[in-house]
Amino acid sequence: MLLRKQSTASLQKANFSLCINTLLEGGVVALPTETVYGLASLALDPDAVAKIYRLKGRPSTNPLIVHVLNLEQAMEISYPDTICKLLCRKFWPGPLTLIIPKKKVVPNNVTAGLGTVAIRSPSHPLFRKVLKSTGKPLAAPSANPYSTVSPTSAEEVVNSFGSACPPVLDGGKCKIGLESTVLDLTCETPTILRPGPISRTAVEKVIGRKLANPTEIFKSGIPRKSPGLSDKHYAPETPVRLYPSIKSLLELAPSSSENLIIIPSKEFLPSLDSYSATVMTLSENGDSLEIGRNLYATLKKADLLKKKIVHLSLLEETDGMTEAINDRLRRASCS
Ligand code: TXA
Ligand code: MG
Repeated sequence: MLLRKQSTASLQKANFSLCINTLLEGGVVALPTETVYGLASLALDPDAVAKIYRLKGRPSTNPLIVHVLNLEQAMEISYPDTICKLLCRKFWPGPLTLIIPKKKVVPNNVTAGLGTVAIRSPSHPLFRKVLKSTGKPLAAPSANPYSTVSPTSAEEVVNSFGSACPPVLDGGKCKIGLESTVLDLTCETPTILRPGPISRTAVEKVIGRKLANPTEIFKSGIPRKSPGLSDKHYAPETPVRLYPSIKSLLELAPSSSENLIIIPSKEFLPSLDSYSATVMTLSENGDSLEIGRNLYATLKKADLLKKKIVHLSLLEETDGMTEAINDRLRRASCS
């Protein structure tokens, strides 16, 4: 047992210094964050950043988030205003990404030519240790090939990149499992471009004003400001049929074995007793944090089953997490 513990510790250590060296030499590594795994490089080195785009197969029009240790480091690369500073003090380190004006030092390929930059300070202790060791801001999108489901464990990163996989720092399963909230502070009214773990109401409480209304944003086409958010994203390979509620899923989903039914809570299992379809559950009792943590890993497992259709239902929106989960479910069902 002791031996096993020792060998795990030394593996981790070797991996850590390898990752630091790789980053400092302008390479790419995969790192855990509290949300999903990220594919990181030095943010201020355009050649290093170009390697992320190549590895992910990501269009150069889709900008990256720059990860910083704290507000002080953010101020070296961007111009946070009073509201931004308030939000950083309240929610950092944590899953809130802020879009603000960038400084010249940020290469154009990080921001896809925009005059703004997305900044976030992750809370995962390993990512923070890497930020401290390199002393430099790190650009990092989610560590998945372009337009596939984000990874929430080191194994998923390795599986999705295969032999092209960069060094991966294993920080276990991500605690949150869904990507950060992206909040644009450069619009007249601050606007959530991607719902996430930090809720609209939590942000409104801190800044003392309402954020832009999501329906109005959708109508005005603002999501196109954030190129990665309007495309088909976060979708498994198997086609998804999405129902407005668990009630309608239980009424309408076919029972035959070529189907996979994913339900939010084990409490609904008895209703599917007589079905030949394969059934997967996202949580024990419907807890939204547990559903968020398990969603992506479940979608990846679903693909391995090679079923004809995956049936899923939207959740009742009660908080930021349920809003973020529904957002990803809608994207997963885009074709
Ligand atoms: O939780 C997360 O945010 C994870 C972890 C690794 O930090 N990262 C992540 O990165 O989800 P990515 O690249 O998969 O998603 C970032 C989104 C993209 O849709 C991108 O278009 C948007 O943020 N974005 C980045 N910079 C932007 C900018 N300057 N203006 C508008 N949107 C921006
Ligand atoms: Mg992504």
